[in-house]
Amino acid sequence: MVRITSHASLLTAAALALSAPAHAAPASASAAAASSASVIVAATPVPSSSTDADAPLFSSETLQLTDEVIADLTPVLQNNTDLFDFGGEVSSSELSARCISCISKCKVFPGDVLWPATWVWSLFDRLLGGRLVKTVPLAASCYSSWPEYDPEQCQVVSDNWTVSYMHAADPASIMWPLFEGRSCLPTDDPSGSCTVGGYSSYAVNVSNVAQIQLAVNFARNAGLRLVVKNTGHDFNGKSTGAGALGIWTHNLKDIEYYPDYQSSSYRGAAVKMGAGVQAFEIYQKAKELGFTAVGGEGKTVGVAGGYVLGGGHSPMSSIYGLAADQVLALEVVLANGRFVTVTEDTDADLFWALRGGGGATYGVVTSVISRVQPKVGVTVSTFSFSTSATVSTSTFWAGVRSYFERFAIHADAGTYAYFWIMATGPDSFMFLMNPFFAVNHTVAEFNSLVQPWFDDLAALNIPTSPQTAYYDNFHSAWEAGFPLETVASTTMMTGSRLFPRANWESPALLNKTFDAIQQTVVAGAPVLAFNMKAELPEGYPASSANPAWRNALMHAISSASWTEDATDAEILQTMTSFTEDVLGVWRETCPESGAYMSEADILEPNFQQAFYGDNYARLYKLKQRYDPFGVFYAPTAVGSEDWVVESEDGLPDQNGRLCRV
Ligand SMILES: Cc1cc2nc3c(=O)[nH]c(=O)nc-3n(C[C@H](O)[C@H](O)[C@H](O)COP(=O)(O)OP(=O)(O)OC[C@H]3O[C@@H](n4cnc5c(N)ncnc54)[C@H](O)[C@@H]3O)c2cc1C
Ligand SMILES: *[C@@H]1O[C@H](CO)[C@@H](O)[C@H](O)[C@H]1NC(C)=O
Ligand SMILES: *[C@@H]1O[C@H](CO)[C@@H](O)[C@H](O)[C@H]1NC(C)=O
Ligand SMILES: *[C@@H]1O[C@H](CO)[C@@H](O)[C@H](O)[C@H]1NC(C)=O
Ligand SMILES: *[C@@H]1O[C@H](CO)[C@@H](O)[C@H](O)[C@H]1NC(C)=O
Ligand SMILES: *[C@@H]1O[C@H](CO)[C@@H](O)[C@H](O)[C@H]1NC(C)=O
Repeated sequence: MVRITSHASLLTAAALALSAPAHAAPASASAAAASSASVIVAATPVPSSSTDADAPLFSSETLQLTDEVIADLTPVLQNNTDLFDFGGEVSSSELSARCISCISKCKVFPGDVLWPATWVWSLFDRLLGGRLVKTVPLAASCYSSWPEYDPEQCQVVSDNWTVSYMHAADPASIMWPLFEGRSCLPTDDPSGSCTVGGYSSYAVNVSNVAQIQLAVNFARNAGLRLVVKNTGHDFNGKSTGAGALGIWTHNLKDIEYYPDYQSSSYRGAAVKMGAGVQAFEIYQKAKELGFTAVGGEGKTVGVAGGYVLGGGHSPMSSIYGLAADQVLALEVVLANGRFVTVTEDTDADLFWALRGGGGATYGVVTSVISRVQPKVGVTVSTFSFSTSATVSTSTFWAGVRSYFERFAIHADAGTYAYFWIMATGPDSFMFLMNPFFAVNHTVAEFNSLVQPWFDDLAALNIPTSPQTAYYDNFHSAWEAGFPLETVASTTMMTGSRLFPRANWESPALLNKTFDAIQQTVVAGAPVLAFNMKAELPEGYPASSANPAWRNALMHAISSASWTEDATDAEILQTMTSFTEDVLGVWRETCPESGAYMSEADILEPNFQQAFYGDNYARLYKLKQRYDPFGVFYAPTAVGSEDWVVESEDGLPDQNGRLCRV
């Protein structure tokens, strides 16, 4: 499991000094930190001729923290080497006393006596080569209480608040500030309050594996809460946490294409992606090189982080399954700080668990190697229809119903359709196909696939004028078809359900399913849904992705919203009734199914069954094996039921102390 590092000439910390040589052994580590801003890189190059992953390490992965590096740091660290030591072979019954997080009830919090002193943070920063970033909330420029106050910058932040690119490029910001605690929102009123709140206190701007190892060791040994942030897309605040040390993977952008990758069980095209690679980047590369990657529809979602670790649905899923199913190997920093290669051969358990069991649970992934598929043409079609003077509400719903009846045929044809159904006023509704993504279909083939539905619409006198075009590659089709979603609303939350094929197989159950969706829309909540399937392709190794995906024909999302001035109690009330009433009706149509963890309701009852299904018991056992220290936590992640965030406002957000239950 542990990578054996053999390097004849260990480069010492001093020899690796970047901007200045390490000073002669100082009187104490605190003196070292205080007396010098010199950067010490606590890392050593580990050669990468051949690895278990059947592909070389990225150069960022060859810079590692080893026992020898730690030993060589002794003169600098003095009596503080414990802070960065690797985790021992601890069983949960016999935990090392220096592992504070293993024995204390709560993670250390800013202001606590055990919170690391300033000189410890600067020492840590020096070991990281100057990559530690103290969190300044993105919108701090809007507040006169912050030194960063700058009305012009505030304008830029306000203008871009709903644009995902800005949050992805910040070490601590996330795209759902509701789950951070709304502690620093853009405003016109500079006298308001802006705090770090539920954002991590510090983040490591990662450029190599050694920095991740140092951060994991430091967090574990000092008892700090640890979060992993990639883009910050997560719907439930899984990439943030008050008082946490953040590991920010966004800048790990390497991409390497292997036209003829060979492992013990696969031979064919594959791509190795750094943890920070985003959808638009891999698709661009795929277009250049002539392959198709199985990634998400969202433009800026990370493809090698939380997305793939949580399963990952894709416009290609109806043909090739989930993104997690494509993964052949991963490079991972474990909770004990060790860097390992995980494949079917090196560690079958972890290989299974990482592919679908969720992010921030077993380790920090630094790269994944995934199968890629041949170049394929796609027909993209966008259209809408609505109630009007000539289309009554019952006619409208008959038009939608005609579509629902064809879900199995459409998914079995390998297509993926993203559609929205919304109330646009009292007794007025709109259906928007945005878009229908017909993989491996010409325009003529697409037209013949949807003809029966369009015939029904014509017979119902429902006008619609599809914009349909064929693209000879995935990237062009995807770019034309999918909107850039807006993010960062604080007045809504989402929830979802995976509706199984069985719901289409009995007329009574189909009625019940359709009624549930209709009822939601009529009550005023939008439905954003995907008609797709995500079966495990033949010959692919099993993954731990939610089994509910395997027979799903629809992944439907809805949301609850409130006004800007709603009180915390009103928000909680709205959330709870959404969970129980709106989603309750959906759940009732398929109680044995589940929901997709990465686009979910944070209050989902019995989340273990809903997000993980029958895999939960094994995933939980593996969590105890690989993270007996409780280093990794994220809301609704495997093992999260053993912890609670004592949020300041009583909402299910990350703005509070993390404690064992
Ligand atoms: C606009 C939008 C569009 C979306 N489109 C899709 C889609 O088409 N298909 C789909 O399946 N989902 C989609 N999602 C959901 C998406 O999969 C989740 O938000 C997912 O959590 C994003 O992963 P990330 O790494 O980009 O985000 P983050 O929020 O940074 O991370 C998510 C979780 O993964 C953990 N994590 C991140 N990187 C690592 C790592 N390297 N090692 C270990 N843990 C890590 C984090 O700690 C966190 O718990 C979309 C979301 C949004 C907001
Ligand atoms: C390190 O610890 C030893 C005893 O454990 C002590 O004598 C010494 O003063 C310490 N050094 C510093 C710099 O704290
Ligand atoms: C932010 O908004 C400004 C306009 O205020 C725009 O010019 C800029 O491109 C935006 N930046 C990002 C990162 O979106
Ligand atoms: C993070 O590091 C990248 C280089 O890898 C650099 O371009 C960027 O400015 C850094 N960001 C912050 C916030 O430190
Ligand atoms: C595309 O469809 C053709 C038949 O029309 C089939 O032979 C081929 O395998 C399909 N390709 C993919 C990638 O599904
Ligand atoms: C389903 O609903 C339709 C229309 O409301 C109705 O005609 C039909 O009888 C229902 N079928 C069953 C099995 O309930």
